[in-house]
Amino acid sequence: MIDKKTLNIALENNSMILVQKCLYARNLHLYRHSVLTAEIAWDIVAGTKDDFGFSAAQAYMAGMLHDVGKLFVQDKILDKRHPLTEREWEIMEKHPAWGHDYVRGTIFESFGDVILHHHKLPDGSGYM
Ligand SMILES: [Fe+2]
Repeated sequence: MIDKKTLNIALENNSMILVQKCLYARNLHLYRHSVLTAEIAWDIVAGTKDDFGFSAAQAYMAGMLHDVGKLFVQDKILDKRHPLTEREWEIMEKHPAWGHDYVRGTIFESFGDVILHHHKLPDGSGYM
């Protein structure tokens, strides 16, 4: 018998594979950035005895999901090698809100705040 917590982790992990495949199919740079962020997040949490209030697996999933809103940003912006225009920045700056909306109503909804706020500066202002 699988308990609810184990079932949820299994569902999240299977769904995470779908998220990874979606990122990979959509944009290779976005996929690589997301995997790297997820792995760094995992390493930070798994590599310390400090209690962050969340598990290494949760940190990994947050890292994988943080830029999911970029699924809605055109490749010509995602892959641009030169500075973005003002209009392109306006689009790029919307990806946290788009990602937040994207996970609403899914098993990843609890990551919505991480996705929404991942570019905010510690004082709550600006875009990093
Ligand atoms: Fe981002």
